[in-house]
Amino acid sequence: MKTILVTGGTGYIGSHTAVELQAVGYDVIIADNLVNSTASVIDRIERISNGKRPLFIKADLSNETEAAAIFDNNKIDGIINFAAFKAVGESCEKPIEYYRNNLQIAINMFVNMKKHGIKYFVQSSSCTVYGEPDSNPISENTPPKFAVSPYGNTKQMVEDMLQFITQTGEIKAIALRYFNPVGAHPTALIGELPNGIPNNLMPYITQTAAGIRKQLTIFGNNYPTPDGTCIRDYIHVVDLAKAHVVAMDRFFEHKNKANFEAFNIGTGNGFSVLDIIKSFEKTTGIKLNYCFGERRAGDVVRIWADTTFAEKELGWKAELSIDEMTLSAWHWQQQLAQE
Ligand code: NAD
Ligand code: WQD
Repeated sequence: MKTILVTGGTGYIGSHTAVELQAVGYDVIIADNLVNSTASVIDRIERISNGKRPLFIKADLSNETEAAAIFDNNKIDGIINFAAFKAVGESCEKPIEYYRNNLQIAINMFVNMKKHGIKYFVQSSSCTVYGEPDSNPISENTPPKFAVSPYGNTKQMVEDMLQFITQTGEIKAIALRYFNPVGAHPTALIGELPNGIPNNLMPYITQTAAGIRKQLTIFGNNYPTPDGTCIRDYIHVVDLAKAHVVAMDRFFEHKNKANFEAFNIGTGNGFSVLDIIKSFEKTTGIKLNYCFGERRAGDVVRIWADTTFAEKELGWKAELSIDEMTLSAWHWQQQLAQE
């Protein structure tokens, strides 16, 4: 039985990943300081997992002492590192806090991996490392562009650190570059908990439909795309969670081709903002109140993943449709309203 430390595991993607890890037999330790999540998520993971409960440790992983204690007191075979601040706009206002938190967490993990001989590390990376692609779909060989935000820069910097750290051979790492994670677990027991007014499209849609927000503003309708709105590769969070299990298995089955590998984790399909709204209206039967507004600064026009490498090397492919993403997001929103 292997034990995986899931940092940030009470968060959106980490909680779904904890469920999938436990489902295939991994033991899970979740470490999180609850800065953007709640401890009740552990109960929910237990419910979904038929009574199997991850060990929960409340700790600020950017703090050297708190991070070290986790490793001193537990036997850990691999780490999946979700813990980070993740709001692009906020990172421009508080760049130092973002560099300190996201980089210090990663460094504390590396220091303790070396100290305790832990070999395997999966890093939450992002399609934001690519900036605005010159062509789509975009493959992993495309060199990252200058980051558009301190947040994006922290993702590039951790990947850069891993490139060098893994060269000694003591640590093997996989960076998963997520495209746009959306949706929620089919049980509607776990999902995304946006803090305040959502920045991201899907929670803004569901909160508008629920009457929490008056109207969704679509940021720009004159982009050079078929319907004038931006195009993204939305991926269901359950598919994304399963990619982490496959990445961890890859280490234990010694299938890595290099000490550091990066994979795009998307569906390979691009959908516009209007496509998402149409899907939401179709699956829920709700007419969404939306209008067109100004473009949002920093938005890329279009990006979607070349998933060939992940399919070939990881044997992983996204399975869930855009309709399953919008409907599960809505079920989660309805569940939240009842709490
Ligand atoms: P989330 O905010 O729901 O989860 C992150 C968790 O990390 C939270 O529970 C938070 O409390 C915890 N955390 C933050 N700082 C911490 C610290 N110092 N010590 C301990 N815990 C700390 O975010 P998410 O959407 O689940 O994202 C998970 C990871 O995936 C992040 O690294 C994010 O950058 C990356 N990512 C997210 C997206 C997305 O759109 N959601 C896309 C690409 C990459
Ligand atoms: C999607 C589309 C918006 C809100 C962000 C981060 C990225 C990654 C994923 C972490 C865009 C449009 C949105 C609204 C809108 N995260 N939109 N009205 O910007 O692609 O990516 O999350 O790594 O780094 O930047 O996602 O959901 O914010 O936007 O029209 O109220 O929806 O313009 O076209 P984005 P998003």
